[in-house]
Amino acid sequence: MKVTTLLLSGLLTSTIVLANPYESEQEELASVIETGQKSSMLLLKTLGGNLKKHMKAGGPIAAAEFCMTNAFTLTDKVGNDLGEDVTVKRISLKERNPANRPATDEESTVLNTFQALQDNNILLPKYLVEQVNKDTYKYYKPLSINKGVCLKCHGDISKDKEVEAYIGENYPADKATGYKLNDLRGAIVVTIKK
Ligand code: HEC
Repeated sequence: MKVTTLLLSGLLTSTIVLANPYESEQEELASVIETGQKSSMLLLKTLGGNLKKHMKAGGPIAAAEFCMTNAFTLTDKVGNDLGEDVTVKRISLKERNPANRPATDEESTVLNTFQALQDNNILLPKYLVEQVNKDTYKYYKPLSINKGVCLKCHGDISKDKEVEAYIGENYPADKATGYKLNDLRGAIVVTIKK
């Protein structure tokens, strides 16, 4: 009888001890997802808003010039605004800027997985989360060619000789053309340190 009670209380204690880390893990994941969502939306809004503004003011060349000179700086700035524990970037399997190639095997795996899902008509998840190590997570958001305007510079760019020449000159190894509406273009990666 005594042994049973002991065992029982032992079990109870260990359940309680286990319950806490589990809960805090869930909480940590929830906060990672929230930061990922907020950060990727901020980047999209910043880049999208500026693209629209420059397209309207100066057409695709002005907009491409903006993308070329500012996409990186702006991405960095968004990262800075988010605090030193958060960084954002864009990656693609068919990149225009070589700096936007996936940097790790895991980043490639995520892009290949998104592409495989899309190729099989399976709706993409809103995000995926990678646990890099005990304190670091990566939040991935798929990016699609979701507006007609993207095709100006990522579709059949031979339709506009000026755009074609500009891209050819500035990105001699460009792979980011030939897309159609709704194609997967890449992903936003938000790296979050806890
Ligand atoms: C006016 C031309 C132009 C338009 C319109 C445009 N882009 Fe781009 N895009 C570029 C340029 C130039 C780069 C390379 C930027 C750099 O050097 O970082 C780029 C880079 C990217 C990248 C980073 C990966 C890579 O290939 O280097 C993504 C993702 C992307 N564009 C998605 C989009 C989407 C989605 C749209 C529509 C909402 C869009 N772009 C509209 C010119 C354009």
